[in-house]
Amino acid sequence: MTDTPHETLANLLSEKRTFPPPPEFTRSANVTEAAYDEAAADRLAFWERQARRLDWSREWDRTLDWSNPPFAKWFVGGELNVAANCLDRHVEAGHGDRVAIHFEGEPGDSRAVTYAELLDEVKRAANTLLELGVAPGDRVVIYMPMIPEAAVAMLACARVGAPHSVVFGGFSVDALATRIDDAGAKLVICADGGFRKGKPLPLKSTVDEAVDRCPTVEKSLVVRRTGQEVDWYDDRDLWWHEHVGSASGEHEAQPFDAEHPLFILYTSGTTGKPKGILHTSGGYLTQASYTHSAVFDLKPESDVYWCTADIGWVTGHSYIVYGPMANGATQVMYEGTPDTPHTGRLWEIVQKYGVTALYAAPTAIRTFMKWGEDVPARYDLSTLRVLGSVGEPINPEAWMWYRQHIGGDRCPIVDTWWQTETGAIMVSPLPGVTETKPGSAQRPLPGISVDVVDDEGRSVPPGDGGFLTIREPWPSMLRTIWGDDQRFIDTYWSRFEGMYFAGDGAKRDDDGDIWLLGRVDDVMLVSGHNISTTEVESALVSHDTVAEAAVVGASDPVTGQGIVAFTILRGDVESSPEHLKELRQHVANTLGPIAKPRQVMVVSELPKTRSGKIMRRLLRDIAEDRELGDVSTLQDNSVMDRIKQGLSLGQDD
Ligand code: WT7
Repeated sequence: MTDTPHETLANLLSEKRTFPPPPEFTRSANVTEAAYDEAAADRLAFWERQARRLDWSREWDRTLDWSNPPFAKWFVGGELNVAANCLDRHVEAGHGDRVAIHFEGEPGDSRAVTYAELLDEVKRAANTLLELGVAPGDRVVIYMPMIPEAAVAMLACARVGAPHSVVFGGFSVDALATRIDDAGAKLVICADGGFRKGKPLPLKSTVDEAVDRCPTVEKSLVVRRTGQEVDWYDDRDLWWHEHVGSASGEHEAQPFDAEHPLFILYTSGTTGKPKGILHTSGGYLTQASYTHSAVFDLKPESDVYWCTADIGWVTGHSYIVYGPMANGATQVMYEGTPDTPHTGRLWEIVQKYGVTALYAAPTAIRTFMKWGEDVPARYDLSTLRVLGSVGEPINPEAWMWYRQHIGGDRCPIVDTWWQTETGAIMVSPLPGVTETKPGSAQRPLPGISVDVVDDEGRSVPPGDGGFLTIREPWPSMLRTIWGDDQRFIDTYWSRFEGMYFAGDGAKRDDDGDIWLLGRVDDVMLVSGHNISTTEVESALVSHDTVAEAAVVGASDPVTGQGIVAFTILRGDVESSPEHLKELRQHVANTLGPIAKPRQVMVVSELPKTRSGKIMRRLLRDIAEDRELGDVSTLQDNSVMDRIKQGLSLGQDD
């Protein structure tokens, strides 16, 4: 790379709108400005105080051992049981009747599970794991739809000290087998199937095929969800309802070391085999629970929290299972998709349960924009008090739409930056403290040392762009890549001396607030200038005809790379050559002539991974008129054909 990313545009996209927290929110907020000062005065003492929010069976001797970087140990010598922190202590404190999960199934079935009921089920599942010979340290793969049993399975593993590895229920036989094999799992917990857009989809047949290739697996424990026909292997398969259903409900949780492995979660990345990100117990739970309480201002007695992520992603681990449950939250769990049976489904659920905190992804928000604001307007969303965003940069216009049409112009928005590797939120506004800005994650949380640095690792001044790094270890950091310490060092700790390299471009604005600019790999190089895909996309989305945009750099004989944009239009807008020309000009007016797209195309869909990230690599293949690369992690395989067939081109002049 010739120069620091984003230097050209670092100041062009300037955001002047700001939204102070509502005074009544600030008055009762869980966390105030003082937290930043306390953490700055003594970071380790700050994290010790947060760790004391949990129940420990044995106090730690040392807060942090960083004597062998980058291998960290937090709360050294401390012992706790993660599941007991999520369940037993709430029941012991008299909150057994509180609803833990309001489950909304995709076919419309629903049930409420209290903390007492969840604890009972987890104890029985833990006894079943013990019966099956699962010992502390043994790995268990979980391959499930979004049903309460998925959380039960995770917590049962945590309870007996068996690290789980959840594999997203939409992944193929190959992806599942690779992960089972890398983790060396002994047991797979799955379901017969799950529902997707009104139809039962098989899961067990995928497990059967994968397990045939994985000799470490001894048993499959199968939840009956859809009731569909499944092949049954008597030597291997066990029904959940028979075994967990008849197991004893007596189970005393044993404490484990603070550094005992809690889970492995695989991230695919763009190249190489998936990385098994390893998280451990004490530090992880401390930060997951603290950040959930601070960022969502969670009041366990009155809030109804809803994170729309799948349990197969880290968001589901930290902000459906561990963070919220450690905090005794009441939450909604939804098995289905936002458009089935109708596009108002999410808002219907918010209204039904009186949801107060919603955590969603920008890709979903842009889809709602495309469907139009009259859809949410049909529902009562007045219970909402804080809105979260995660997964990619949120375009300022999508942020504004979220605030206006979902948040009723009153709810603070928390744009939370973090990664599977960081385990918990790292950069985010605090809803009772921060004056928010559309599109910016703004400020590292108290106790977190995030920086934006130049090529040489020097902090950039306000107004400049560079690379996002983390200067000090944090409690919920990944401990290594499972089975590959060297890859852990090479991937995250070798780009800059003594700093964690996140792989994201970022800039600081004149107030010092942080703006995320996408993965460094996605940065375009146009006539010697680095231009961020995120900024061009946000400029396009700020045009009132555009709902969503994906931008790539395609090789160009003159400029090195030329900017090619794929757009989805709002509602019923019809495109024309004049309209496309206007869009190109709009980007030039917003960001400067250097950022003017060479070409704008209108498409009906964009290729996305199953976690909702745009696969720019495939769009680059189209833009450069190449055969498509690996499409196996695409959410929908046929989308590329539809894009190619339906392209309408807006050419350069
Ligand atoms: C990458 C991590 C964090 C849980 C879900 C994704 C991008 C995530 C934001 C945000 C800008 C974001 C980054 C990051 N990302 N949140 N608020 N603003 N970018 O976890 O799959 O490990 O992906 O997602 O590029 O590095 P993940």
